[in-house]
Amino acid sequence: MDVISVIRTKRDRGELTADQIDWVIDAYTRGEVAHEQMSSLAMAIFLNGMNRTEIARWTAAMINSGERMDFSSLPRPTTDKHSTGGVGDKITLPLAPLVAACGAAVPQLSGRGLGHTGGTLDKLESIPGWRAGLSNDEMLAVLHDVGSVICAAGDGLAPADKKLYALRDVTGTVEAIPLIASSIMSKKIAEGTGSLVLDVKVGSGAFMKHLDDARELASTMVELGADHGVSTVALLTGMATPLGLTAGNALEVRESVEVLAGGGPQDVIDLTLALAREMLDAAGLTDADPARALADGSAMDHWRRMITAQGGDPDAALPVAREQHVVTASATGTLTTLDAYAVGLAAWRLGAGRARKEDPVQAGAGVELHAKPGDPVTAGAPLLTLHTDTPEKFPYALEALEGQVLVGPADTAFATPPVVLERIG
Ligand code: URA
Repeated sequence: MDVISVIRTKRDRGELTADQIDWVIDAYTRGEVAHEQMSSLAMAIFLNGMNRTEIARWTAAMINSGERMDFSSLPRPTTDKHSTGGVGDKITLPLAPLVAACGAAVPQLSGRGLGHTGGTLDKLESIPGWRAGLSNDEMLAVLHDVGSVICAAGDGLAPADKKLYALRDVTGTVEAIPLIASSIMSKKIAEGTGSLVLDVKVGSGAFMKHLDDARELASTMVELGADHGVSTVALLTGMATPLGLTAGNALEVRESVEVLAGGGPQDVIDLTLALAREMLDAAGLTDADPARALADGSAMDHWRRMITAQGGDPDAALPVAREQHVVTASATGTLTTLDAYAVGLAAWRLGAGRARKEDPVQAGAGVELHAKPGDPVTAGAPLLTLHTDTPEKFPYALEALEGQVLVGPADTAFATPPVVLERIG
């Protein structure tokens, strides 16, 4: 097998054979295929696509590049959730302990933020003492004791995807449905969960800007799950405006704890409960009542135990940014637009996100919203508070928001879209 013929096949719109796929993924993981060669193949796939047979084989080859985890010793059924990423998407934080409180085991391997979308591990690391890096044995122990764990994937899990994702990130080849679907599903299948619920975000703050693309990504991933015996469903959910009222690491932990305490913004509560119900159904726990577990404090109890088990102090004060800047409403009326991508970019520029994997993030940085689209606003009243330790960043954050926060006449008709747009699976 030689790499040039594999690249030529896809460049010329041919179908890759199973042998070609197995070989190229293995050879790239071992370093025999060079980055520039894989980069060329990734671009050919980006431009010419892969059919379902090719995607299934590509995913299997990435799973086989590393270890598969095994949770069969757990007395509870395992279930997991994966979001394709959005702005203010802190749902994993209340969701994992909530689903554990209802009787399932949740092995939640999560990532860090890159670009304008936040990362679950960065958020949790704003809790003093909390550790993202657990060995497989430690992860299993927390799952046994608490029922949910949120941690970083070890180096042994789908190493082909780790290399390929880093390469795609710097070669303009991230937003290809076959590559996104195989990347996400190879990690989730190798993780060994029994069932999976996908939250596929649609809108300006998501990878998929259009409903049709989100549908195609969702159905590709649902089929990949089924091929590997992982019962998988997908919810398509809106990401035109941020989820909840915060975007930023410690700010989102604070809001998640509010939800666990029985409060918090309605869209965060609704999406947490919708995903929890899907996860519990998929795990066969159809009698569980997640709304009750949220109201009676049992989800909060699991959160505290989960944070403590990973070295964190659930009672410690969360970091607060040194400087704040308030953006006020330009007119009296109805807030018609608060663009998710603009808020994500502003939070990132304030220091909540990173440009390169090795960059540090500011725990306290981010954007706090005081109104959501559809709300009445009064001229001069606060709309957003920007938080940062580096106030020289305020002008760049404000530039990101320019023209993306709009107030219309008070009688503007505004229909708040449902939290869940569609279900696939
Ligand atoms: N998340 C992943 O894990 N992989 C992708 O390709 C995109 C989002």
